[in-house]
Amino acid sequence: MSDQVKMTPLNYSADRPQAKNPVKIMDLSIRDGHQSLFATRGRTEDMIPVAELLDEVGFWAIETWGGATFDTMHRFLNEDPWERLRTLKRYIKKTPFSMLLRAQNLVGYRNYADDLAYAFVDRAAENGMDVFRTFDALNDYRNFETVVKQIKKSGKHFQGCICYTLTEPRLGGEVYNLDYYVDRAKSLESMGADSVCVKDMAGLLAPYDAYPLIKALKKAVKVPIHLHSHFTSGMSPMTHLKAIEAGVDIIDTCMTPYAYRTSHAAVEPLVMTLLGTNRDTGFDIKKLAAINEILEKDVMPKYKHLLDDSKVSIIDINVLLHQTPGGMLSNLVNQLREMDALDKIGEVYKELPKVRKDLGQIPLVTPTSQIVGVQTVNNVLHDTPDERYKMITGQVKDLCYGLYGKTAVPINEEVQKKALKGYPRGETPITCRPAEVLEPELEKAKAEIGDLAVDMDDLILYAQFPVTGKKFLQWKYGKSEPPASVKAITMDEVKAKDEVIKKAKAGLLIEAKPDTPAKTSALRTFNVFVDNEYFNVEVDPTGDIQAVPVPQAAQAAAPAPAAAPAAAPAAPAAAPADGTLLLAPMPGMIVKYEKNEGDAVKKGDAVVVLEAMKMENALVAPCDGTVSGIKFGSGDSVAKGAVLCVIS
Ligand code: CO
Repeated sequence: MSDQVKMTPLNYSADRPQAKNPVKIMDLSIRDGHQSLFATRGRTEDMIPVAELLDEVGFWAIETWGGATFDTMHRFLNEDPWERLRTLKRYIKKTPFSMLLRAQNLVGYRNYADDLAYAFVDRAAENGMDVFRTFDALNDYRNFETVVKQIKKSGKHFQGCICYTLTEPRLGGEVYNLDYYVDRAKSLESMGADSVCVKDMAGLLAPYDAYPLIKALKKAVKVPIHLHSHFTSGMSPMTHLKAIEAGVDIIDTCMTPYAYRTSHAAVEPLVMTLLGTNRDTGFDIKKLAAINEILEKDVMPKYKHLLDDSKVSIIDINVLLHQTPGGMLSNLVNQLREMDALDKIGEVYKELPKVRKDLGQIPLVTPTSQIVGVQTVNNVLHDTPDERYKMITGQVKDLCYGLYGKTAVPINEEVQKKALKGYPRGETPITCRPAEVLEPELEKAKAEIGDLAVDMDDLILYAQFPVTGKKFLQWKYGKSEPPASVKAITMDEVKAKDEVIKKAKAGLLIEAKPDTPAKTSALRTFNVFVDNEYFNVEVDPTGDIQAVPVPQAAQAAAPAPAAAPAAAPAAPAAAPADGTLLLAPMPGMIVKYEKNEGDAVKKGDAVVVLEAMKMENALVAPCDGTVSGIKFGSGDSVAKGAVLCVIS
């Protein structure tokens, strides 16, 4: 046994003597846990049943907010993110709350102006946040300056993160070596960090790199060292143990139902592993088991359909091969699938390290993982042998301009020049702290949204998510009806669905059907469109009816087809005989039209901004002409190939 971890006689009881230097644990189940496994779809009502029990465990903190929760809640769950914070605080009274803050990106995907950053941190603290785990995707701590000022002013805990990334299969090499991490940690401490976190978002930290890394960090700085290491590659439980031997202070884990796969190692095995040692957590394993029982019985059945069960393995071998973070990988796969290009995944893996290097060898974490990922897919799908970077996303342009901060190594000059051609802020990149060049945003946002934002919390939500935020505020204040897709699934629905599946598996559904009559020669087929779904329906007249017209009402009531419906078709638009169609190159959401009906455009002018995989793409006019046939508006979802307008 290592000299760092000593055994005392075993004692299983909850009131066993306290260890000399217990490992502190932060629970991530209700933030990173469901974000990693269930696409952040966890609802507040499903956190409440275990909230008080979680408060009794003795966690150093519970991560409850931040990351993707803010976006997902208002967009997909029709929940006010601020309300979750206040609600959970009523149940969890002792344990501090922690949130993941993307520094100047707050909980969005770009750098926001200082006025918005101050307001966001101030409101988060007021609503109950205690620990601000702050990271910057480029490890450029100039992006911390504003939020840290407000965290300190609010009297809260500032945890500074170092995003862990590699240039070689293991720690070391030219950019991301031990010196780099020690330098970053010292820099955080000098900024006033109350703790330093190694944020290993892709599970790349190997156990025998964790040991020297944590040792070096413990030596370099006085504040506690916290380790956040995703399970994705399968190494994290071993990494945790080596980090504990090296003296790490705090470890992140999840409750078992929220653990493993692209999430984190479970807390229970760690508690047993350390039992009776001088690093014993002191946790009562029975209390943890009681929480798990509730989660398994009353909560997980509502979410298991979101689990990616396409693979049996819980370890993602691609992380070891390609160092692609789990979330980024599933985004890439989804994006390719939506574009019917899943066969290009091999090319994407090859292109990705090239794009990353071109863009300054940046760490891959939100939002840089999306920026690099989407640009990689764009290159693979749209580049031609004589032109690279044919479709550059708005975010890559911003990165090239310096709006995200300083990259680890300089950006490829050729790519940078191409990206900044005609860039509205100028063609020469900046070198200052990015937010210095950003105009204040709150006043402008207030003018846009008006009285629909009732308080500062509404306004902050709108300012970060103008399109979906406005939609949410309309739902919240009864100005429009939320769609069925944002409603919660009930346990009764889950049970009913499970019954049907059980019957189908037993072959009982077929038996229950009445005798199927034989098809006659009068059989006709109809294409039936219901919302965005397409059904091919066969209609055979009975009795003396000769032909069956299909009125609107009958279409809506069309029975489900035997075969799976084809992919949702692009919204058809009547195109004039002459004119060039501007088609959506990928499925996405319309952010805004830059041109209106009847506007004259020149070839290359931006006509419409389409958001796909959270990246904005400006789609340009393929020729000179006049814009017509605009069928969509801001916030509308469009399928690949949808006609966005006609230029004639
Ligand atoms: Co994480």
